[in-house]
Amino acid sequence: MSDVVTLERKGAIAVITVNNPPVNALGIAVREGLQQSFNAAEADPDVKAIVLVCEGMTFMAGADIKEFGKPPKEPSLPEVVNGIEAGSKPSVAVIHGTALGGGLEVAVSCHYRIAVKSAKVGLPEVKLGLLPGAGGTQRLPRLVGVAKALDMIVSGNPIGAAEAHDLGVIDELVEGDLTAAGIAFAEKLLAEGKGPRRTGERTDKLEGVDNAAAVAAKRAEIEKKMPGLFSPQRCVSAVEAAFALPLAEGLKRERELFAECLVSPQRAALVHAFFSERQASKINDLPKDTPVRDIKSAAVIGGGTMGVGIAICFANAGIPVKILEISSEARDKALERARDTYGMSVKRGSLTQDALEKRMSLISGVTDYADLSDVDVVVEAVFEDMGVKQKVFEALDANCKPGAILASNTSSLDLNQIAQFTKRPQDVVGLHFFSPANVMRLLEVVRGEKTSFEVLATAMAIGKKLKKVSVPVGVCDGFVGNRMVFQYGRESEFLLEEGGTPEQIDGALRKFGLAMGPFAMRDLSGLDIGLAIRNRQRQTLPAEFKLPTVLDKMAEAGLLGQKTGKGFYVYEKGSRTPLPNPELPAIMEAASKEQGIERRELSDEYIIERTIYALINEGAKILEEGIAQRASDIDVIYLNGYGFPAHQGGPMFYADSIGLDRVYARICEFHEQHGAWWKPAALLEKLAKEGRKFADL
Ligand code: 3HC
Ligand code: NAI
Repeated sequence: MSDVVTLERKGAIAVITVNNPPVNALGIAVREGLQQSFNAAEADPDVKAIVLVCEGMTFMAGADIKEFGKPPKEPSLPEVVNGIEAGSKPSVAVIHGTALGGGLEVAVSCHYRIAVKSAKVGLPEVKLGLLPGAGGTQRLPRLVGVAKALDMIVSGNPIGAAEAHDLGVIDELVEGDLTAAGIAFAEKLLAEGKGPRRTGERTDKLEGVDNAAAVAAKRAEIEKKMPGLFSPQRCVSAVEAAFALPLAEGLKRERELFAECLVSPQRAALVHAFFSERQASKINDLPKDTPVRDIKSAAVIGGGTMGVGIAICFANAGIPVKILEISSEARDKALERARDTYGMSVKRGSLTQDALEKRMSLISGVTDYADLSDVDVVVEAVFEDMGVKQKVFEALDANCKPGAILASNTSSLDLNQIAQFTKRPQDVVGLHFFSPANVMRLLEVVRGEKTSFEVLATAMAIGKKLKKVSVPVGVCDGFVGNRMVFQYGRESEFLLEEGGTPEQIDGALRKFGLAMGPFAMRDLSGLDIGLAIRNRQRQTLPAEFKLPTVLDKMAEAGLLGQKTGKGFYVYEKGSRTPLPNPELPAIMEAASKEQGIERRELSDEYIIERTIYALINEGAKILEEGIAQRASDIDVIYLNGYGFPAHQGGPMFYADSIGLDRVYARICEFHEQHGAWWKPAALLEKLAKEGRKFADL
């Protein structure tokens, strides 16, 4: 018998228990164990019903993602679930934690399902570039109808046990010991004389509804919201087979479509994104036994755009937080802004008024540093000015208790210098949130040269509590994300001087999959920020590093972005829809002329190379300098902070997929044509010449 699946007799009930930590993924050992156990229970004349339950934190969370791309091993999951469903004795799945993907497919092949109230069920395969490949696309529509199944399968989002119960996926909500609940339910079935109830044999939910209309509507929605994605339309095709074909043929169709997804480059990229996110939180040189400090209270210095968002993150995590501002007026304004932000969630229906009041009760305002003497962590988010930061950190050093973590949200200043304003640089760390801080998942955890392991580990733990994707980075101008985006932004401006338009460049990058093009993004954040950085750079950059001039010309014309109603685009009052700006062609032509550039037609492919390869080259320099621990960490930063398309895997994965030799050759050409900015990273050159990938590092 298997190590990870056990079979035990409790009277007439066979209890099959899966124990494959951490998430009971359905790897080969679990599949074999399930098949053997169900067969043994089927063969045992004294067994009248079967209960399937999982140990640990969750029911089965799906197929073992690590097995994708490797030679398949028998029994396959479809074979296992079809065998379970065909069984002649009633089987009951007992769900806790999450039944996801293959896990839910196993559950719906059992004849009955019960769950604890906190459980969630879903088919998230689409998020990995796949579709449910073990009968999920055929059985879920039979349980919940085609329209709901399409919603669940195409979004990949799980639903709670209560909703699943209402929909008929779950038969009963239970409490207490899982095995005991399963046995009780099975005994009740036997007492009532109930036998197997096979989902695959049901047709009631497929009849009397316009399934074709549901399919057409979903296809149109995908076309609009997820153009270019490989698996969503295939999910729909598989669900279509559930009502158009008999079960056996539908299952066959599902397998064919699954196989197409499995070999798609998007699947590889999305699985890379999944594992990279989990890997990012691991710090290579952190000793295993590093203690983590307790964080029960927090403070934020500066209640501006970022400070309020950060305070909201703490309140959302149930941690009381004080906002310290320069005056009582500024303090009250910050509290008002926090309330307004929550108010918008109430308006949208994503938060109740009660929850708003509860969270606001965790946020208080102060003006005196003496009020921060008991907090466990402080995040400074005042103006981006070293003089101001110095005063703040000196005050924190004088007032905060020993062991308090002193963090800065600076986006460009030297964290090591900031740490020196205190007598405890080991307690200083960067917590670089992204705007809006309460929405964006990314958190760069900036490790200063004196930051202690304990503080670093605690900073990562804080990120986890705040439900952020935390990535450790080293100190340099702009850290990882902004340092790279600067290269991208500058190249996109150069493209305007060479003949491109904002519409074309944004369009090409959107087609590549970015949520927003660089110019729409600039208009949103305001051109003045970029200009201030540019002006600073002009004073320090060596002469060979030329800078584009379009921004300066736009500023002279008062085109500062959405806040002035005009920037790279124009915006009608009250609208955020970008429309072509008729003033821009003259500005771009003047810039081209000034640089002696003859404007020319640019292809989408060229636009992608000039902008994305700029990210890649800088990413390689960042790796070389040890600012990021691994290439996949850079991908995680771009996927979670900059709208980089997950199906491209992140800039470094994308480079690997193109081939570093090709990327390097193109960067060498750009270096020749466009000068110093394009000096190829030594690491890129080395890997390209050795025929290696970033992933090999
Ligand atoms: N296969 C292999 N490993 C998995 C896994 C899976 N399906 N799901 C999670 N893991 C691993 C993670 O990589 C992580 O490993 P690590 O500790 O070495 O870094 C560990 O389990 C814990 O995972 P999380 O850090 O994500 O733990 P959380 O508690 O935050 O979340 C979870 C748990 C909600 C189950 C989350 O891990 C998750 O969403 N997992 C993926 C679920 C999924 O996509 N299932 C579908 C798989 S495809 C499929 O089933 C195909 C089928 O239709 C044929
Ligand atoms: P902001 O101008 O909106 O807010 C700054 C706030 O700090 C103001 O409310 C001001 O009254 C307060 N303040 C100034 N001096 C103070 C002092 N001595 N004591 C207490 N409060 C003081 O600025 P924003 O955008 O919130 O930026 C804050 C920090 O966050 C900066 O370091 C910035 O670089 C960083 N950051 C900003 C991002 C953004 O997109 N805005 C993104 C990531 C980081």
